[in-house]
Amino acid sequence: MSKIIATGSYLPDKVVTNQALIEQTAIDSSDEWITQRTGIEQRHFATAEQTVSDLAVEAAQDLLKQVGPEVVQEIELIIVASMSSKLPTPSVASQVQRELGTKEAWAFDISGACSGFTMAVEMAEKLSRDKTSGYTLVIGAEKMSSILNFEDRGTSILFGDGAGAILIQHDGEGLEDYQSQLVSIPDPDNSICVNPDEKMTMEGRAVFNFVLRQVIPSLSNFIKTQVGTFDYLISHQANKRFFEVFAKKLNVSLDKIPANISQVANTSAASIPILLDGLVKSGDIPLTGKQKVVLVGYGAGLAWGQMSFKL
Ligand code: COA
Repeated sequence: MSKIIATGSYLPDKVVTNQALIEQTAIDSSDEWITQRTGIEQRHFATAEQTVSDLAVEAAQDLLKQVGPEVVQEIELIIVASMSSKLPTPSVASQVQRELGTKEAWAFDISGACSGFTMAVEMAEKLSRDKTSGYTLVIGAEKMSSILNFEDRGTSILFGDGAGAILIQHDGEGLEDYQSQLVSIPDPDNSICVNPDEKMTMEGRAVFNFVLRQVIPSLSNFIKTQVGTFDYLISHQANKRFFEVFAKKLNVSLDKIPANISQVANTSAASIPILLDGLVKSGDIPLTGKQKVVLVGYGAGLAWGQMSFKL
């Protein structure tokens, strides 16, 4: 079977606590409000010079440290999920290809906001299914700080910057036990919107209700009908309050729903691979093919993606 053989991630050095964010932006909020309503205690912000592709390259290089540089020329496909790149073209994936020095690979981006990484995994899985050699690199990378409106307290407190990556080794078949479901539904109100000339706007309560009313029942049904038991639910990190609802509705313990939102906030498309990399590096998911994971990403579109496979 094809396998995820390595993961990597990158978080910028600059850590901004809730209190520091409030002081720097003068928004009318408090550490207590943010922690209680979201679970977020701090986030990482990139420097003004760092681009989305810089973050993506750092995550890819972290991953390559584990497999060796000889893999670079055998990467056949590079997919980057991102909503915050300032350059419409070249794609972030093309910039990653250039920086890694991969001579020949098909490289492209997916703009799927917070479900972008699940869309990228689906594309990677389907496009690499019948490849018998080589590798696919999938990255989620975001510089959310560059699109935030720091006068909007309902949105600016939620997001952070970072990147995460996975490497799939092809073996002529897809990932073991792969099941997936991806959905987009019309959003007449553009609940999450980034106009190129302006900053991000979000109807937080509407998005919150979308997760409760659409995503959670859909996830519950997907697990019941297609997945069965699993070891970890690796969820997008949007609000800690969702995880308690997940646990209750799925009838599983909170231990099965790991979280890093307190430390990294919502990094949109980078959220799932950063969390996954943390679990791999801590030894909770040793990449020995014995554990079944469910990934779920949800957000702007409105869209969500859920998939399970053995890791
Ligand atoms: N500090 C203090 N008060 C704040 C605040 C902040 N940072 N942001 C909003 N408030 C206020 C509101 O103005 C409102 O005040 P009012 O009652 O006087 O009108 C009150 O807190 C409650 O606002 P509400 O929006 O109902 O709070 P909430 O419990 O829904 O939490 C979010 C707000 C944004 C944290 C929550 O809706 C959320 O997490 N939504 C999902 C967003 C998301 O994850 N989007 C990304 C894609 S998945």
